[in-house]
Order: sequence, then structure tokens, then C-alpha cells
Amino acid sequence: MLDRHVVLVGFMGCGKSTVGPLLAKRLGAQFIDMDQHIVRQAGRSIPEIFASEGEAGFRDRESDALRAILGLPPLVVAAGGGLIERTENRRLLREAARQIWLRVPIDQLLARVGADPNRPLLQNDPGFSRARKLYACREPLYAEADLHVDAARSPEQTVDTIIAALRAKRAGAQ
Ligand code: S3P
Repeated sequence: MLDRHVVLVGFMGCGKSTVGPLLAKRLGAQFIDMDQHIVRQAGRSIPEIFASEGEAGFRDRESDALRAILGLPPLVVAAGGGLIERTENRRLLREAARQIWLRVPIDQLLARVGADPNRPLLQNDPGFSRARKLYACREPLYAEADLHVDAARSPEQTVDTIIAALRAKRAGAQ
């Protein structure tokens, strides 16, 4: 049983949705993907939400989802890449979760995601110049996480690294 939520943060393509279920299984916890939760609640896809409500509408839904999820018994959570943009979300995460940043070099992230049509922020961005700027702005916010984990390798290797880092942290706290 987890004592706090474990929230995976990081840029699009860092592997939160793949690593999350594997990590949850290893920790004996339930897993929630925030994007999937939002899509279920809205009854619409993320591109549809962006198109009809704008990014601000999506961010409001994301903040509501965060508050609802943090009210549940401790879980492993995959956050959307922009969750950490709002100060209030970061405050809630600091209070109620152990945050893990899945760190992957920007070129590798962009090679993984390409111009994924399910990710509105990657559309109409030739050369990924907007995406690179976004990453540069967000990097210090991801770095507020409790643990920084090299997630450039396979999901299984990333899970092993996270488990070892959580153990080391726990041992250090005793
Ligand atoms: C976003 C990342 C996406 C999704 C939405 C916005 C972002 O999630 O929440 O498209 O602002 O970086 P992933 O990080 O799971 O791709």
C-alpha cells in the first residue's frame, strides 16, 4: 500500500502512460492516466476538447481531474505534460504526491511523438520550434519533482530505476 500518490510528470512522449501501469503493478497499486480520465469525463477526445473549449478549457478540466484524483486513496498517476504549468496544480502535487520526472532529451521526445494528431500542441509546428520552446519553459517546473529519473531507455528499465530510487529515498529518510 502506498503512503502517498506517485505522480509521473514530464513532457509528451516521456513514457508516463507506458511506465505508469508497469510501475503500479510493481508497487501493488492502482493506476490512473489523467488524459484518459479527462476524455472519459468529457465524452470527447483531447483534440475535440481543445477545438471546442480551447486550451484553457482543457486546463480547467485537468485541474478538476487532479483535485478529484488526489482525493482518492494513493494511486500511481500519469499526468498530462502540461499539468505542472499551473501554480495551483504544483502546490497540490507538492502537498499530496511524490512526483517523479521521467527525463528524456528533447530530441528523443520529439522523435518518439512526431506530429501525433492526438496531441494538439504538436500540430502546425514545422521543425518543432514551438515544442522546443515549450519544453525549455517547462523544464524548471518538471525539475520541481522529488525524483528525476533517466527515462531514455526501455519502460522496464525505467521502472527498475524508479523502484531503486524510491527505495534509496526511503532508506535515506530513515
Ligand atoms: C499536453 C500533453 C498531453 C495532453 C494534452 C496537453 C501538454 O498529455 O494532456 O495534449 O500540454 O503537454 P501527454 O503528456 O500524456 O502527451
